Parts: sequence; structure tokens; C-alpha cells
Amino acid sequence: MLAHLRNISKLAVPRRLVTQSASYSSSSSFLIDQPEYSFLKELGLERDNPGVYSGQWQGRGPSVTSYDPGTGRPIAKVRQGNVQELEQTIGLAVEAYKQWRQVPAPVRGEIVRQIGDELRKYKEPLGKLVSLEVGKIYSEGQGEIQEFIDICDYAVGLSRIYSGQLINSERADHSILEAWRPLGVVGVISAYNFPNAVFGWNAAIALTTGNSVLWKGAPSTPLVSVATTKIVAEVLRRNNLPPVVALCQGGTDVGQTLVADKRVNLVSFTGSCQTGRDVGVEVQRRFGKVILELGGNNALIIDESANVKMALDAALFGCIGTSGQRCTTTRRIIVHEKLHDQFVKELVGKYKQLIPKIGHQLEAQTLVGPVHTQQNVENYKVAIAEAKSLGGTVAFGGNVIQRDGFYVEPTVITGLPHDASVVHRETFAPIVYILKAKNVDQAIEWNNEVEQGLSSAIFTENIGQAFKWIGAKGSDCGIVNINTTTNGAEIGGAFGGEKATGGGRESGSDAWKQYCKRATITVNHSGELACAQGVVFNVE
Ligand code: UN1
Repeated sequence: MLAHLRNISKLAVPRRLVTQSASYSSSSSFLIDQPEYSFLKELGLERDNPGVYSGQWQGRGPSVTSYDPGTGRPIAKVRQGNVQELEQTIGLAVEAYKQWRQVPAPVRGEIVRQIGDELRKYKEPLGKLVSLEVGKIYSEGQGEIQEFIDICDYAVGLSRIYSGQLINSERADHSILEAWRPLGVVGVISAYNFPNAVFGWNAAIALTTGNSVLWKGAPSTPLVSVATTKIVAEVLRRNNLPPVVALCQGGTDVGQTLVADKRVNLVSFTGSCQTGRDVGVEVQRRFGKVILELGGNNALIIDESANVKMALDAALFGCIGTSGQRCTTTRRIIVHEKLHDQFVKELVGKYKQLIPKIGHQLEAQTLVGPVHTQQNVENYKVAIAEAKSLGGTVAFGGNVIQRDGFYVEPTVITGLPHDASVVHRETFAPIVYILKAKNVDQAIEWNNEVEQGLSSAIFTENIGQAFKWIGAKGSDCGIVNINTTTNGAEIGGAFGGEKATGGGRESGSDAWKQYCKRATITVNHSGELACAQGVVFNVE
């Protein structure tokens, strides 16, 4: 196995990517200036891009350079916004909301439909940009844009059917209505790993329900933010609409100001548990609303009765897909003791087959791309060292791959206690810990003992175990799957998790309600005043 791993380390940077100048300081070394990257120009990007949009493009804050994690080379630059620009942008978003809330919901849905259509036109180059800037492979970059397109379709239907209800009143000739109204400005702070889709889920639903949206994307994926906003802005321009979608790329100061500003009625934040807790407290301090999508520590349980072949495939995509950088990535596999050793052996066999498929994210044969930054590499190293020091065995991988860019070996670790510190921590890298459990009850206990509660899955053919898993004594996560992966949720369900994952729900089902305020309306059509609960309170 070690010989295989040595081969990984020698993988060459793809030929067509190395023929360019090696000097990062020379302006001609920006990938955007190279003919192979002309798709970036199709998206309206330039070498230096303004990162603030509120009807006009600007950016007077610090400039950031976006890098290709697959080579470490600069792609292009974005001029971020400063705090003053953010404050102006919030003001414009409030004004835009005041017009937008008057547009009938199905007409708002029609605008979202056009956004979906525009995304279809740009799916190829935009998905490629997602791949290039994040480091995820081609099909996953395309899949991410597909999620945005899908949620637009969903939102179009929603715009005609989301509704309140009529509730029976205890008083004669009274009616109780329930209506859902927009909140105002929805702030979306998204993470680097899904720089397009997370904005998409929030924006499509927030716009449909009558809100304006102010987005701050991750500082390390600013080009996706700019390119996506350009696509949306074109639809708004064509329809003579105010900036109901605004963008302000920026650093911590911009993020903190957005979170603290009372004019931002809802903050939808995706990121770490630690930052999410601060965001939650800050928004609560001003009685704003919050949707938190924070970390996961997702377990895949393999019951004695499992279809092992299918479970192995689920583990492979779950652990290694997106190079372990989804919040839904499988971080722990809890295997029945009777299957454990064989399962580890077969999984390692599959990992070996992936070795030739490690490479630059835009190369056609690649299944395992780089991690996003050097920081991810450092976190990977820390986790591996800690796992070893706690007595874990590296059954596969464990090393940084020496080549340009940020590559690590997909890693399998066995033999750690279920509650080891490193097992309970989320490391955004392709590392999985395999644990041996006596039975499903113990596996459920371990599934639930971590702080996070995002995603979980069991492989079982036993109907009793399956129903236990989805019942009150089962998984305590927001996503509770059977015979499928922990990652790769569809947009139709509500997406999010419990406990330290933050409790928020985005995307489908009734997640739209979070973007609304609820009005309970009692109408007296009796011609006489009557108090509820039989209270008598009048004078002649
Ligand atoms: C995330 O990692 O922040 O379920 C979102 C999934 C994707 C979304 C992941 N649909 O893996």
C-alpha cells in the first residue's frame, strides 16, 4: 500500500496547466488571461473585479486574489467592499424590499424562474468556475449549479401554492386567519465549500416569499459570488427591478457589521459551529432571526444485515466526495463487529483504486481533487497526528501529497475509541474513523453522542432496525437516511441539523416559513363584540 501512496506523491501537475508562467507576481500569470480559462470571461469576469453589487458594481475595500487550489496559481482578483459600502448596500436592499413586497408572489416566482433559466445557460462555465475556485471535481461543480436550478424550479411552484390557513374560532361568526409575510432583508453568509448552491437555496426561497437578499460569500471564493450575482443581476435589469439581490464581498469587519445591523431581518449563516454560535448570539441580541447551518460529524452505520456492496459505495462517496469538505461528509463509519474487519479491508481496496484518480479538479478522470487551502492541509495533519497519538491505526493514507496545490491522501483510521477527541471533532478533510460496535443500539448511541447533529445514515435490511433508526430513540440528526449516503441531499427536503449544527432548515419542505413572519388574524364578522374564553367585560 505504501508503494501506491508514494506514487500519489509523484503525480505531475496536469501538463496543460504547467505550460504557463510560474511567476505568481507577474500579472500575465493570472489564469484568467490564459486561453484555456476563457470560460471565466464568458461569465463576465476580468482580472480585477468589483465585489460589491447593489444596482451598480463597486468595491473600495481590500483586494483579494482567488487561487486555484489544484495548482496554487492565482485566477483573478476581487475588490471587496468596506463597512461603509456594506451599510449603503443594506439601505438599498431595504428600499428594494419595499418595492418587491408589492409584487404578487407568482410574479416574483416568474422572476426566479428566469434566474433558473439564466443559470441553465451558464451552467457549464459557472460549474467549471465552482470547480476551479473550490477545488471540487467537474461533475460536482456542475451538480452544485444544478442544485440552484432545481431550487428555482421548486420556488416557482412554491410561489403559487405557499399559503396560510383558516382556523376555526370558538366565537360565533369569527374567523381566524394565518398569513405569511416577508421579513424584509435576508442576509446570506455562505461558506467556501458550496459557494453557489447555499446562496441559491436561500435566495430562491427568500425572493419568492417577498424578501430582498444581501449576500456575502466566503472571502476565498469571491469569483463565484461575482459571477453568480452577474447572472442574477442581468435578470433583474431585464425586468427593470431594483437590486433585490445585492452582494458585498468582504472580510470579518463586513461580516460582523452585517450580522449586527438591525435592518437585516434574517441572517442565514453557513460555517463553523464556533462562528455560528457568535452569529446566533449577536443576532439574538437585536431580536433578529437566524438560520444556522453549522458543522456536522456524520456517521454511517453498517448493520449486520446491510447490503455491504452498496454500503461500500456509499462510504466511498460519503467520505471522499468533495475531498471530505461537505458539511454532510461521512466522518465516522460505525460497523457491526461481525462485519468490521472485512468491511475495512474492502473499503481500503476501493481507496486504492482511487489513487490514479487523484488529480487536478478539472481533469476529466479526477475523482479526488485538492482540499481548498493550506489551512485544510494543516488541519488534516493535526488530525492524523492526534489520531495516531491516541492509538489509532492508519489503514490507508495519512500523508500530504507533495505537488503544487493542496493535496492530501484520502485516509481511513481504525482502532480509536468512539469518543476520542479527534473522532468528536469535525476536520474538513477526507479522513474517516471506522468504529466497531456490538449492535445497532450501541451504534445509535455513538451516532448521537457527538455535539453536532447534521446528517446520518444506516445500511440495514432489517425493518425493525430501520424503524428504530428513524424513531424517537433513533438518530438525533436533521438528516436520517436509510441505505443511502450521508451527503448529497436533494433540494426537496428541508436541509439542516440539530444541536451544535444550529437547528436551521433551508431549501425544501416548509423551510420557506423561516423567511416569513406569521400574522394571526382574528376577524369578527358578527356585528357584536365578544371576548374569547367567555370573559364578560362591558358596561351598559
Ligand atoms: C454543505 O456542505 O454546506 O447534502 C451543503 C449535500 C449538499 C449540500 C451540502 N446537497 O451534501
